[in-house]
Amino acid sequence: MGPTARDFPSGFLFGAATSAHQVEGGNDGCDWWAWERRGGAKDPSGAACDHYRRYPEDIALVKELGLGSYRFSVEWARVEPEEGRFDEGALRHYRDMVERCRELGVEPIVTFHHFTLPTWLSDRGGVLARDSSRLFARYCRTVAEALKGRVTWVLTINEPMVLVLMGYVQGVWPPGKRPASQVIKAARRLVSWHEEAFAAIRQVDPAMRLGIAKHWIDFRPLDAGDAMHRLGRRLQHQLFNRWYLDRVKSHCDFIGINYYARQYTTGLLRQVPLATPDAPRTEMGWSIVPEGLHLALTEASGYGLPLIVTENGIACRDDRWRIRYIDRHLAAVHEAIAAGADVRGYQYWSLLDNFEWAEGYRPQFGLVAVDLGTQKRTVRESARHYGEIARTGRLPDAID
Ligand code: BGC
Repeated sequence: MGPTARDFPSGFLFGAATSAHQVEGGNDGCDWWAWERRGGAKDPSGAACDHYRRYPEDIALVKELGLGSYRFSVEWARVEPEEGRFDEGALRHYRDMVERCRELGVEPIVTFHHFTLPTWLSDRGGVLARDSSRLFARYCRTVAEALKGRVTWVLTINEPMVLVLMGYVQGVWPPGKRPASQVIKAARRLVSWHEEAFAAIRQVDPAMRLGIAKHWIDFRPLDAGDAMHRLGRRLQHQLFNRWYLDRVKSHCDFIGINYYARQYTTGLLRQVPLATPDAPRTEMGWSIVPEGLHLALTEASGYGLPLIVTENGIACRDDRWRIRYIDRHLAAVHEAIAAGADVRGYQYWSLLDNFEWAEGYRPQFGLVAVDLGTQKRTVRESARHYGEIARTGRLPDAID
């Protein structure tokens, strides 16, 4: 490959991502806070990275590293702490975050819902509450009004199928395991959440480009010679990767792809995270298969919409793994672009070491390490390395 063949298209958004509950701290009005109190996470989120107060420095760090975009989320429980009462201070806060990005020339990518719900809503059924789509659309409209004219890229919901899987099927996240009928209802409801939010936001600011952050798993049959393994692959791929997108695609201006791993199917609804001895695993136990990102982008291109990799990242102790991970996954993105996929950006997960849901604070995904005692930020070598790629818009000459 010659040097120019390593260049990304100009304007490609190299960035990093976070979500409100995982970094802000003191987010005591949401269902996750209550879930943590009941022992649902290895550590409580507590003060997290104190990002609610420290965002000006953190966004400055994004800039200093050479990154061009920052994906973050708005916390519904702060914006609407009681049903129907919108908090001006919270809305101003998120507007200020966007302004901070703008003044530094960092493109904001804003998620309106990233797993958490205000407790007033979770107490009366959460996603399954009869009027939850209307409530979500009203919240989105209010946030859109506050951010109008200042934001281009908006994700209504982060990983709806992960929310359904972890919350309703496995029950390791709120609201806890539910019968199959409610699982189906929750998935369908999240389709109407997006559709209604799309219409509401569109009305307020037609210039906002609206999408979904869709978690994509590269399912493969463990034994390609086994018919059940193959059937399991087809079913899981359809249910997990495509079902939701097939429904919301006409209400999207772009699709966000969150990709982490390959999983091997061993039955209709069964899978194992790692089956090949040659694929190394992250600290989360996830297999590292960059090719899966290429395949995801190539297939998702079939929806005919621009794509952004809205999450991709590794939890590891040895930062050299992160460097290798980023290089290889960016190479996979580059290949997908070369093959015709319209990929507009890549957001590494995560900017900061943060609260990893039920896993607490142990997994470290950050480009920047955070000392939870002092809140001191330490930029990792991988962040500098990634920043250099972002600054030059070019893959490194040698990828290990
Ligand atoms: C979620 C993040 C999470 C990350 C790593 C994604 O599924 O959107 O909130 O921290 O994966 O597990």
